[in-house]
Amino acid sequence: MASALLAWYPRHQRDLPWRHTRDPYAIWLSEVILQQTRVAQGLPYYNTFLVAYPTVQDLAAAPEAEVLRYWQGLGYYSRARNMHRTAQQVVSEYAGKFPSTYTELLKLRGIGPYTAAAIASFAFDEAVAVLDGNVYRVLARIFGLHSDIAAPSSRKEFQAVADQHIPTSTPADFNQAIMEFGAIQCTPVKPDCLFCPMQHQCWAFQHGQVALLPVKSKAKASRTRYFHYFVLRHGEQTYLRERREKDIWQGLYDFALAETTVPELPPAELARHLEALGATLDTSQAAEPSAAYKHVLSHQKLEVRFHSLELMQPLPATTLRDLGLRLYSTQEIDALPKPKLIANYCDQNL
Ligand code: ADE
Repeated sequence: MASALLAWYPRHQRDLPWRHTRDPYAIWLSEVILQQTRVAQGLPYYNTFLVAYPTVQDLAAAPEAEVLRYWQGLGYYSRARNMHRTAQQVVSEYAGKFPSTYTELLKLRGIGPYTAAAIASFAFDEAVAVLDGNVYRVLARIFGLHSDIAAPSSRKEFQAVADQHIPTSTPADFNQAIMEFGAIQCTPVKPDCLFCPMQHQCWAFQHGQVALLPVKSKAKASRTRYFHYFVLRHGEQTYLRERREKDIWQGLYDFALAETTVPELPPAELARHLEALGATLDTSQAAEPSAAYKHVLSHQKLEVRFHSLELMQPLPATTLRDLGLRLYSTQEIDALPKPKLIANYCDQNL
């Protein structure tokens, strides 16, 4: 398998910036971005991030809100928060120098087996195989592995097979090659088996089971949540707050929020929420909510409505203190890290 992959790779690989560096920091950044994000979407973020924070010291010294603002639109914001903390750990405990072995890298907060293997092999030529979704698929098909790849217990089996095949002479190329092969040849649907150099070695192809492998149990159905945002404006400014609670979008900014179990917020409920906020409205205002914005996250679906409201007076200090709300100008809002949905709403309405 290794020789077939290594022959295939130079003829098919995409020219990607992180393949031209041996800097563990840049490699780390690319791999964190590429978890959960496609290459085309991740590329501009990688470039912008490296300009903003060329070294791990620069990232460690940045305010978290600024880091999240650069991450805005990539989703899975805990990746950015963890990266930021890990950067600080590398600076404070490792004098700003990344550890150079898989085992040491794994000890860093927020660096798991995949990322440790990627950094160890790409930056330091250690022969430890990366396992991501692409690699699971390639291995399952070539070797006819039928374990459920969604089950954590399968990792050991796949890791052992991959580690058995990674060559000690070119581990970095092997890892890039197997991921690239999964990304562009051995794809989830309609893999290019007709022109595959591993047809004859591929268990799945030989047994007519390409479409059946890998085995992956379905994730549990995602739940729907209904968000009602109160876009409270006073003069030229708008109230926002930082999301601190243990929930989606930690560290990002949004508006005062009521969550309901049904799509609509009845007028009496709306009035009750506004009263609790101490909001003084010009009652002649038509308080029609926006159309529903739908937003799909990994384990939940959101249906979001915005209620845009002009206040006659600022909110009472108790509300500001209890909810962490503050008035921001449009310019200030632009600089705050926000969920994509909120950023889009602000762009169109503020
Ligand atoms: N996905 C994850 N890591 C990658 C890499 N190094 N190159 C391309 N796609 C990837």
